[in-house]
Amino acid sequence: MNPEPTDRELAEPHLLGTLATVGVNVEYVRAHGDTLYRLDEEGREIPVTDFAGGYGALILGHNHPEITALARDLLERQVPVYTQFSRHPAANRAAHLINDIIRRETGTEEPYFAFFSSTGAEAVEAATKHAEFVRSQRLAALATGIDGNVASARAAVAAGRAEPGPDVYERAGADTAQAADQVLEHLVARLERHNDEVLSRPPVYFALEGSFHGKLAGSVQLTHNPGFRTPFAAMAARARFVPMNEGEALVKAVEEERAVVWDLVVEDGRVGVVERPAPVFGAFLVEPIQGEGGIHEVGREFAERIQTVCAEIECPIIVDEVQSGMGRTGSFLASARIGLRGDYYALAKSLGGGIAKSSVMLVREQHYRAEFELVHSSTFAKDGFSTPVAVRVLELLEADGGAAYSRARERGERLRLALERVREDFPDVVAQVRGRGLMLGLEFRSTSDSPSELFRFFAEADVLGYVLSGYLLREHDIRALPTASAVNTLRLAPSIGIGDEQIDRLEQALRNVALVLRESDEQALAP
Ligand code: F0G
Repeated sequence: MNPEPTDRELAEPHLLGTLATVGVNVEYVRAHGDTLYRLDEEGREIPVTDFAGGYGALILGHNHPEITALARDLLERQVPVYTQFSRHPAANRAAHLINDIIRRETGTEEPYFAFFSSTGAEAVEAATKHAEFVRSQRLAALATGIDGNVASARAAVAAGRAEPGPDVYERAGADTAQAADQVLEHLVARLERHNDEVLSRPPVYFALEGSFHGKLAGSVQLTHNPGFRTPFAAMAARARFVPMNEGEALVKAVEEERAVVWDLVVEDGRVGVVERPAPVFGAFLVEPIQGEGGIHEVGREFAERIQTVCAEIECPIIVDEVQSGMGRTGSFLASARIGLRGDYYALAKSLGGGIAKSSVMLVREQHYRAEFELVHSSTFAKDGFSTPVAVRVLELLEADGGAAYSRARERGERLRLALERVREDFPDVVAQVRGRGLMLGLEFRSTSDSPSELFRFFAEADVLGYVLSGYLLREHDIRALPTASAVNTLRLAPSIGIGDEQIDRLEQALRNVALVLRESDEQALAP
């Protein structure tokens, strides 16, 4: 067999080809803070300002000196990295730090238990899986209770202590001429059929339109983009997507998914049927600020609605702070600001300090099931490298009375004002500036009505943002990317260390982009 030529791309060659069409297929060779370096033809480093921020994994920037020093120290001290089934004090320390923060930001005294993993999707799936563990126990308890009540009803009727009531006749489809025990058996058969059907349904998940919760088999069904989700629909429970900030639509969706099981009661010599709410709800997933969906914020009122409805139907809330959390929006949790309290939280991205893969799912004590720890695990969970890194990240964010959060707010405001100035001067091409802190989006208007055929093509092929990304890199040495689900929106997520000069250069570059769009300058954007 001939070996493959070594210059043949085998690691996602198709994606690389796509990047090449817009000119973002560059290799970065070094990075610190918000600066990346690529090499020119002579091998000289060209600095590129990074506003993509590892899609939110770099709240502290690339290779933050304290994080890299810690990493070096851990390796030099030969700290054991993989020691599954042993004590992990750093994981415990991280859990405590996060609990202190949750307590401060939400005012809750209830502790949250922590389950560590490696990626955002894993944390989301650990949360949905834990919620399903709880639900399955509720289902079993409900079924056992009903079995017991059916047995009691049978015994009461057999002993002549009770007669089937009118609702039993009605639901059994029986008439009064039939013997009491036969009527009851008819009903029990129907009850079992009905209950089996309801209790064996897959859990109902609610997520918001525009949501992104990961791309693994389970989590991708909670991710709204149909292109990501539909080919894999058979692999996991599907979600019901609710439009953002529409309380009435949320209530309607919930009403449509509610279900009841039948139960029997014996009272005053009569067997009667009662309906009990069935625990059909898996979880309600919310990103307080949608990232991949194009930077959309959940409003306070809608958050309150979610909270009230979920409490009423006993549906746990999973707050996905994988992107919005870790201080990016000016507080550790973006959800705290809108009064949204999670039964579960998912954190990832910046938890790894920009060098490790780390995520954590937190579950509040009331929902926590100790036995889950025996059925859920990963080789890489609570490892001796990423966990101390997470602790240091948390300590850095919390240092000096939370100076990092103020910094995210202040830098975010500075960046936001720059984007707003561009929008004010180019309202014909810039539609909106959205977001909070260092999680911002700049949406361009569609070029579908452009006089230029090329620009119309960009709109039709849904690639405008990527083309602009290529232009920003080529002409301005700026890295900024749209998201796959909102291609007209550039997502800006730099670190808290982003400088004035870097923001000013972005503003200037975006002004040039706006001019190119205004003038349908094909030359500038031609591939
Ligand atoms: N949840 C949210 C809110 C996310 O933004 C992401 C990833 C995930 C979960 C999954 O995390 O990639 O570590 O498994 N968002 C990236 C993005 C991919 O483009 O915003 P993961």
